[in-house]
Amino acid sequence: MNEYEEKVKKDYFSKFGWKRDPFILRGVLPHPSLYVRRKDDHQRLGPFIEALKEGQSVSLVVGPVGSGKSTLLKLFDYELERVLGNCRVVFIEQPGFTQEQFMKLVLSRINSGMANGDKVSLYENLKNWVNGSRDRRLILMIDEAPEIPEETGRLIRNLSDMENISFILSGVPDKIAKSMEKMQPLLDRKGSEYEVKPFESPELTWELIARRICYAKGDFSELDIRPFTDEAIEKIHEMSGGSPREALRIAHDALRRAMVSKNYEIDEQLVAESGRSVIVTEGEILREFSEVQRKIITLLRNKPEGLLIREIYESLGITHNTAKTSLKRLRNKGVVRVCRRKGRAYIYCLSEEWRRRLMKG
Ligand SMILES: Nc1ncnc2c1ncn2[C@@H]1O[C@H](COP(=O)(O)OP(=O)(O)OP(=O)(O)O)[C@@H](O)[C@H]1O
Ligand SMILES: [Mg+2]
Repeated sequence: MNEYEEKVKKDYFSKFGWKRDPFILRGVLPHPSLYVRRKDDHQRLGPFIEALKEGQSVSLVVGPVGSGKSTLLKLFDYELERVLGNCRVVFIEQPGFTQEQFMKLVLSRINSGMANGDKVSLYENLKNWVNGSRDRRLILMIDEAPEIPEETGRLIRNLSDMENISFILSGVPDKIAKSMEKMQPLLDRKGSEYEVKPFESPELTWELIARRICYAKGDFSELDIRPFTDEAIEKIHEMSGGSPREALRIAHDALRRAMVSKNYEIDEQLVAESGRSVIVTEGEILREFSEVQRKIITLLRNKPEGLLIREIYESLGITHNTAKTSLKRLRNKGVVRVCRRKGRAYIYCLSEEWRRRLMKG
């Protein structure tokens, strides 16, 4: 962002009393009040939590990409210890660890003093902690569970046999099913399952955006969607098909456009235009790329000065790993290049050839 753009953004934010950008977060749920509860959550989540309370050893959280699986786990991370009582909850955001690393991570989250020693001592420490008290439970939540390496999967299987450990595994349903096949005993122990569904009504999308705006203001006492109009939110809901990630992407895009044109009301039309990003207008050129790759291209096209990988995955609301894999493919295809370095990190931008192609498009 250049100096002029910075100033435009600052003016816009101060007009609405925003301390930060509503659509750029650190992590999926930096504050529990950002969470939007679905209408049937009470009925559907109740039995899920109840099963955990009764000592269910394996539970699943499944749902399509961008529906809010990681966000729900993060909410559990904030609330589950209090709701269940007498338990420790450890949230493992991505499970690409060896057995040893996995045990160290869990132990250091429970009590950093126990995370030392060789593999055998680590295992003993973990077992002793779990067996140390009859009514104390350890709940391990593993996001992106299909990415669990096979060897670590064997450890997890083993741990799930222990009486006081429960697992909550999360992922996209068909990938989960495949990876669970590899860990048959886990599948046998699988109990309740919670499916994260798209937002069923525009009211939920309204609340999603309103909560983001409250977060930007640092005040959740009153939900407010300004500068968006109610019609704009309806449009966002319709265009996103109820996917929170997609809704936030469209809202983010509309806000950018509104800021540039110093437009202090975001209406239905502005939203409709925002949905029509290069993904559609340059559909011909970009057809060969995956959806995430297209989004990265769109993002970098508007950022000639380049972006860090963190800025890419945060603004697209994707995981670090997804961004990394997609960037690697785009670099191999000559679409993206590293234009600079910032300390040890790379700054990515479009290659000259692709910049020209897309400018013409
Ligand atoms: N119930 C919710 N309340 C508030 N925000 C939500 C909710 N569900 C999802 N979001 C927001 O939507 C975006 C996508 O959610 P999330 O990353 O949790 O999806 P996911 O299902 O884990 O996706 P993936 O399959 O790519 O891992 C995030 O920015 C998150 O903040
Ligand atoms: Mg996720």
